[in-house]
Amino acid sequence: TKRVAILISGGGSNMVTLVDSMVGDHPARPVLVASNDPNAGGLAKAAERGIPTAAVDHKPFGKDRAAFEAELLKHIEAAEPDILCLAGFMRILTPDFIARFEGRMLNIHPSLLPKYKGLHTHARALEAGDSEAGCSVHEVTAELDDGPILGQARVPILDGDDPDTLAQRVLRQEHLLYPQVLRRFASGNRDILHLT
Ligand code: GAR
Repeated sequence: TKRVAILISGGGSNMVTLVDSMVGDHPARPVLVASNDPNAGGLAKAAERGIPTAAVDHKPFGKDRAAFEAELLKHIEAAEPDILCLAGFMRILTPDFIARFEGRMLNIHPSLLPKYKGLHTHARALEAGDSEAGCSVHEVTAELDDGPILGQARVPILDGDDPDTLAQRVLRQEHLLYPQVLRRFASGNRDILHLT
């Protein structure tokens, strides 16, 4: 059984779908949920589910990303994860941190990568006049929101959409996509999964 640590920064709805999926004959189980925001709503949701949690506030570290990561790493390494899942984790990680988890770190990003890396993906898709949007799960490499794509799900962009309505539609697909990709990844399958 693969051990999975999940990093969050916010409400943790993707984390919840991952945790709740790792039951029965699933090839993985959750061993830690960690956040850079001590007030992240997801921490309580993880604790309710009996998952150990950790919070390392990035703010006292200022611009010293390496020092923040060293502290975070203590918690992660104590949990001995095989796989690290970023689920709404909003800190950029250093190449050193990423190298430690090469080939075993996943991220979910709310766009159809390679389009719209970075922030404000839904506003950018709307501004561009795109007819569809979606989400991607990819392996994390040193380049931001780059790295081999493991799965994508698409949604239509509808008349009258604003970034919030579009984000909600995409998030529903994130909740379907990420657990399926994690299950496949944990059993060694890195083929791209296309939903819808
Ligand atoms: C999700 O939409 C996720 O794709 C996005 O943040 C949201 C987190 O929601 N991630 C990024 O933008 C990463 N740069 P959640 O906390 O409810 O899972």
